[in-house]
Amino acid sequence: MVDENELWILSFYRTSEISGALFFGRLARTMKPGEIQRDMTKHFSDESMHAWYWTACIEKLGAHALKLEQSYQDQYLAAAGLPVNIMEVLAITQVFEKRVIGQYSLHSSLPGLDPEIQATLRKIMQDEKWHIEWIRDALKGLESDYGKERVETTLKRFGEADLEVYRKTTDEHTERLQELINGGRRR
Ligand SMILES: [Fe+2]
Ligand SMILES: [Fe+2]
Repeated sequence: MVDENELWILSFYRTSEISGALFFGRLARTMKPGEIQRDMTKHFSDESMHAWYWTACIEKLGAHALKLEQSYQDQYLAAAGLPVNIMEVLAITQVFEKRVIGQYSLHSSLPGLDPEIQATLRKIMQDEKWHIEWIRDALKGLESDYGKERVETTLKRFGEADLEVYRKTTDEHTERLQELINGGRRR
């Protein structure tokens, strides 16, 4: 049977993946023809699959996902402000995706992790790597429109917002993950 903290964390992942899918789905619909339109559509599709993978994983563990209100994305947008153009959207996403992959990789290193959770984390992390890559390339391509310096300043600004979000608002997630880590050591 799945541990209470674990169920909360997996449900939080699912909610965050749904928020990511909705965010990118809405954006993808507004993109003009081109590479960014293509990659953003794939990105949106990946995030919705991730939400399903977590739903299915929780089901295999004998539970149903909790209905949670908060997600990473809401916290990010609250701390960093709404991005005002496509370059800012990609910059905040780049910072955010790095944070997600960091959390997933930390989780996947927990001792005694259920194989179902491990397999789901591995599968999702493959896609998340590509997310970081395509956005990095797209941001490079946008340097001619926005200027290299402006892109770098924006990344730095969102990087700072990321640290703030991480310190303040992911507390519940971090605490629960920490409890899992401690629980793993006790076993
Ligand atoms: Fe994802
Ligand atoms: Fe992603």
